[in-house]
Amino acid sequence: MGTGEAEGTLTNRQGHPVTDNQNIRTVGNRGPSTLENYDFIEKISHFDRERIPERVVHARGAGAHGYFETYGKVGDEDVSKYTRAKVFHGAGKQTPVFVRFSTVAGAKESPETARDPRGFAVKFYTEDGNWDLVGNNLKIFFIRDPLKFPDMIHAFKPDPVTNIQNPERMFDFVSQSPEAIHMITFLFSPWGIPANYRQMQGSGVNTYKWVNQEGEAILVKYHWEPIKQGIKNLTQKEANEIQGMNTSHATQDLYEAIEKGDYPEWELCIQMMSDDEHPELDFDPLDDTKLWPTDQFPFLPVGKMVLNKNPENFFAEVEQAAFGTGVLVDGLDFSDDKMLQGRTFSYSDTQRYRVGANYLQVPINKPKKRVATNQRDGQNAHYVDSGQNPHVNYEPSILGGLKESEQVGKVHEPAYNGKLVREAIERKNEYGQAGDTYRSFEDWERDELISNLVDALKVSHPEIQKQMIEHFTKADEEYGRRVAEGLEKANKEMGNESKHNTGSAASDEAAENAKEK
Ligand code: HEM
Repeated sequence: MGTGEAEGTLTNRQGHPVTDNQNIRTVGNRGPSTLENYDFIEKISHFDRERIPERVVHARGAGAHGYFETYGKVGDEDVSKYTRAKVFHGAGKQTPVFVRFSTVAGAKESPETARDPRGFAVKFYTEDGNWDLVGNNLKIFFIRDPLKFPDMIHAFKPDPVTNIQNPERMFDFVSQSPEAIHMITFLFSPWGIPANYRQMQGSGVNTYKWVNQEGEAILVKYHWEPIKQGIKNLTQKEANEIQGMNTSHATQDLYEAIEKGDYPEWELCIQMMSDDEHPELDFDPLDDTKLWPTDQFPFLPVGKMVLNKNPENFFAEVEQAAFGTGVLVDGLDFSDDKMLQGRTFSYSDTQRYRVGANYLQVPINKPKKRVATNQRDGQNAHYVDSGQNPHVNYEPSILGGLKESEQVGKVHEPAYNGKLVREAIERKNEYGQAGDTYRSFEDWERDELISNLVDALKVSHPEIQKQMIEHFTKADEEYGRRVAEGLEKANKEMGNESKHNTGSAASDEAAENAKEK
């Protein structure tokens, strides 16, 4: 150590001590520089690669570590009656978790006051490997077929020409997608802007299955309840005020609460339903635009989660975290929910691109139990998760390669016999629950809903306004009438000219075409 290297001094990534971090090597102190400046080139080229693609959705987020503690019961019954997933067995058992909260449409550093669903993704590092529960704060979603997801996100994200988010594009899509009216009713009410990440609920939204030792399955939905913190939402005015001062208020709130030992907690509840079509219901149980009525399918507590540790490094943990709906453990299964199946392909596909082929070797994504595969190589392979014989990277083998494990519980084998089709579900019931939700709001929530919808819709093409009013009226006559009255007033105030003066080229063109006809 001829350089005086000591604990606390700087090195480069090769472990070479850095003796001058202020000056590159040059011919004389005025330059030119030389190409063999290894320290400089290593430093600047790593800097040049500091960013990975942001998530295509849910780019803005914050995360924390903690644990899940099972109650060992579902309601009054032993949980093993319904699932053999060990994470739920043995009252009091704790499983480490990592959680990432997010907004959906905004870019990586966008304001956290956006009217937008909030992501609520939980990675459970269970004794059987990882389980990810990738949810949102709201309990339902905009669409029920995954083929529509890229279009929906294009409409919600900024205009590809102006790079400005434009509610007209969003409502253009929504007015042609009546299944979204229920979600829009939540989103434009105060429930569309949670006060922060701690005081909001979470939900798996899509339907999963629990499978017991005998291979019998039930349908389940998961819900997180912030019992300790309570729920708090913001009015648009409150959100605007916060946004004027702070665009990271939710990240800051979570970080500071955990730093001062005020650990947020959620209770995990499930709703259960027998695994069949339930013809008695006026909606399809696998339709993620619908709530399962709690009087028939009550919330049953199964455990609680506590977040008690902030990440040590935002990028390494929060940014590189990769959650997916396909990441289930024995005793948990997929349902036939089409959205869930579409999502399950999408998450790991995007993560192979966003984080890289070996994203599961990144510590935040790596299971905390033994991993032994025959997968090898690829960019950024950090180690080999091999068995006893490193020469044998294939299976089957008699030379000491990895072997299959025994199946312990009985396999759940649903039987199918149907035509392969491209068809929507039958029990769409687009408006019933949207109306129920509208009527369930308190007066101030309904007032906010109408005012937020009018504000967003007043910049839309008249045909879009008309169709949206029709949808709201079908949900609830008063709902439609109040939006119509609000729009009439707003349109008058804005005057006909200014209405399309919104920078929306698409809308101007459509208006011109309409005039020509
Ligand atoms: C993130 C796709 C519906 C919740 C993502 C990502 C993709 C995606 C590609 C980025 C993942 C990453 O880069 O790591 C889809 C598709 C959907 C869909 C194709 C519908 C077909 C939903 C629904 C929910 C949801 C219904 C709510 C239950 C989330 C959350 C994240 C996310 C919370 C952020 C996860 C994180 O914090 O890293 N989604 N999504 N998504 N999605 Fe979805």
